[in-house]
Amino acid sequence: MQQSHLDDLFAFIRFPSVSTEPRHKDDVAACASWLAGKLTAIGLTAHIHPTAGHPIVTARNTHQPGRKTVMIYGHYDVQPVDPVNEWTSPPFEPVIRDGIIYARGSTDNKGQILGHVLGVGETIHEKGDVPVNLIFLIEGEEEVGSKNLESFLKENRAALACDIIAISDTGMVARNTPTFTYGLRGIAAMELRVSGPAVDLHSGIYGGAVMNPATAIARIVASLHGADGRVAVAGFYDDVAPLQPWEREAWQRLPFGDTEIQAVTGVPELFGEAGYSNVERIGARPTAEVNGIWGGFQGTGSKTVIPREAFAKLTFRLVPSQRPADVVAKVRAHLEKHTPPGIRLEITDGHCGEPYATDPHSAFGKAAQRALATAFPGKELALIREGGSIPIVNTFKRILGVETLLLGLAMPECRAHAPDENFPVENFESCIRLNRALLAELGM
Ligand code: BES
Ligand code: ZN
Repeated sequence: MQQSHLDDLFAFIRFPSVSTEPRHKDDVAACASWLAGKLTAIGLTAHIHPTAGHPIVTARNTHQPGRKTVMIYGHYDVQPVDPVNEWTSPPFEPVIRDGIIYARGSTDNKGQILGHVLGVGETIHEKGDVPVNLIFLIEGEEEVGSKNLESFLKENRAALACDIIAISDTGMVARNTPTFTYGLRGIAAMELRVSGPAVDLHSGIYGGAVMNPATAIARIVASLHGADGRVAVAGFYDDVAPLQPWEREAWQRLPFGDTEIQAVTGVPELFGEAGYSNVERIGARPTAEVNGIWGGFQGTGSKTVIPREAFAKLTFRLVPSQRPADVVAKVRAHLEKHTPPGIRLEITDGHCGEPYATDPHSAFGKAAQRALATAFPGKELALIREGGSIPIVNTFKRILGVETLLLGLAMPECRAHAPDENFPVENFESCIRLNRALLAELGM
């Protein structure tokens, strides 16, 4: 590994570019400037585009007629570092332990997007140019829902016109295993508030005569699943496309399954919808998840109270051909039906994203797979659908009319969004190699 590449990554990581925290606004902006400087230094023309939120950074080479136009998308913002005292070393002071880089953003997404930037830099240094018309689009709001990117795409449709988009922000199923992701789950988020009594009540004086909102939220949340792990919302599975026989067969042979999922998650036993393997449950089946549930006394010791309100945050992961608005309507009806007597329910809709699916056997899909084969010689390719979501991928399709190739290098144990996020130096190197192979293939 070239030391200057590691120095670049470390410099990039040291900016605490946490997009959700207002106190980091200047750090996010400084990170964008550094990135634009790097893109300029490798020989591209870079721009920083201010938005109502955090800046978008773009860069391009000189476009020539007759060549394919390739957009590489990524993000330079990161998730918060909390709980910060659970990190082995400080989150924005990158260190290498046993060949693995530890820092917030190392995997998601600074290591991967910088791998592409440095790959392009190497090619330009050696050959004077890359073999395609190139556009880098690197945003600072992915981790907060890409709020200002859609209008940017609409306003700059002509400048961003391209034939194909490539993203490295998904997983690699196992070490050194070329992984092509041809599907992502969508998402629909909502927040619930249940209330009953006008004020907190003494649980002895009134307990027995009123429905407890904390009990009510627990009942409502419990009503979302059957004992068999299936989501119990009427019509929830109506539009779910069945797994294809070839997928079920191929996924059984992946070097990733129950053993790895159990080891990484640390659960005593895996659990999910009956009738599906765990890889299938994650990649191809929709879910209902409780991301938070609270209400009542949270302090030390006991307090005999009936809280006047209680809350839950829910997200639903969706698969083709479910539509977020339709799922939200069905879930709302279910929640209202399962609200116990004596309780008022308020539902606030959150962010949404469509599920994504692309044909792994398209011409671009095959070119990407040839690039993976070049970058990982002799290794068997994994074709997967991921459980995570990148909603902007559907926006690209809708506004720019272009498909996205998902070529991820995040390890199952990368701890994205968690303490001790990490990225192997080996994967950083692979990403640079992959970029070079990819642009060579797409340029043919
Ligand atoms: N890079 C992830 C998405 C991802 C991770 C896709 C692993 C596939 C495999 C991205 O940064 C992310 O965390 N997305 C959010 C989106 C949400 C906030 C709309 C997610 O999936 O929770
Ligand atoms: Zn993320």
